[in-house]
Amino acid sequence: MRIYLDNAATTPLDPEVFEAMKPFMLEDFGNPSSTHGHGRKVRAAIESARKKIAELLNCTPGEIIFTSGGTEADNAILGSSIRTYGIKNVISSPIEHHAVEHTLHMLAKNDQFNLHMVKLDAKGHIDLNHLEELLKINPNALVSLMHANNEIGNLLDLERVAELCNAYSAYFHSDTVQTVGHYRHDLSKTKVHGITAAAHKFHGPKGIGFMFIRKDKKIQPFVHGGAQERNMRGGTENVYGIIGLAKALEIAYRDMDEHIHYVKELKTRMIERLKEQIPGVTFHGDSDNLDKSLYTVLNVSLPESEENDMLLFNLDLQGISASGGSACSSGAATGSHVLGALYPESKRGAIRFSFSKYNKPEEIDTAVKALSELCKIPA
Ligand SMILES: Cc1ncc(COP(=O)(O)O)c(C=O)c1O
Repeated sequence: MRIYLDNAATTPLDPEVFEAMKPFMLEDFGNPSSTHGHGRKVRAAIESARKKIAELLNCTPGEIIFTSGGTEADNAILGSSIRTYGIKNVISSPIEHHAVEHTLHMLAKNDQFNLHMVKLDAKGHIDLNHLEELLKINPNALVSLMHANNEIGNLLDLERVAELCNAYSAYFHSDTVQTVGHYRHDLSKTKVHGITAAAHKFHGPKGIGFMFIRKDKKIQPFVHGGAQERNMRGGTENVYGIIGLAKALEIAYRDMDEHIHYVKELKTRMIERLKEQIPGVTFHGDSDNLDKSLYTVLNVSLPESEENDMLLFNLDLQGISASGGSACSSGAATGSHVLGALYPESKRGAIRFSFSKYNKPEEIDTAVKALSELCKIPA
């Protein structure tokens, strides 16, 4: 049996979620825009899914817009907020997910705005004083800073950044793809203007996500076509995806405390075993700080040795799936832009292990044993 330790890339579908989706793949196939009975039944199911999600996040149903996932939601908020508000200055960081980083660079080529990068400290924390300086000299900016980094697990103080953004009339977008379904978001308290989510990061189906757009910070539509999603996103809805997304979020909230406790124990076990079995092992960013980092992610820094370049490949041969860089480039030979920005001189190997409720403690032990046998420790 293979061991799956790449849950920040995607998670297995929860069978309970699959059961909830099944009727909408078979008997309830109507188009939600149809006004006849088949359509009305499906429309009602979509609206009750939206209501459920809004209740869990403490916002209103009208503030939830379904998309094909995290990337589309990030693209939509960034592109449309810039156009809607005629934004001239955008503030972001060099360690954002490519869904934000590449999108902003692409938009900067066509739209007339300046892109400012906020400073990071040695561990990859956003320098909030620098952020405030940038906000002061660039009022009415767009700020895009992720809640949890998908590679090193660093967490942003979302409330503090939202307060700063509101104080300087900035539009605040946060990529929350790694935290929705893993932490409780209270959007009536956290005054962020736009957030994004993808169901497949919390045991829901792939190809479905949503964006939250605060009602007093509306943006223009991003995908044009039909009047779906209150004219915000044309195209027939991914009905069974939406049903699965709402069910996955409901389960995530129902089991949240137990889930956090269990996954944190797996992470603690891996940190302890790695320290025992691999001399010189360290951890990137905050990922070994259990209280301060995303509990699902551990980014391991391995002693420098040319032979360690093939570790990920060799782990894979032994049936262990992990990642070298960002979720979307698992297995790809390209270096990580996040680690490149934080540790430009480092030649140490990096492996990201990420956990879920379906992992077992024995799998952690097997993975660490395999890694310790494969890893070369320079004399
Ligand atoms: C932080 C972050 N943002 C955005 C995305 C993209 O989400 P999706 O795969 O649903 O487009 C990912 C997925 O790897 C992610 O980890």
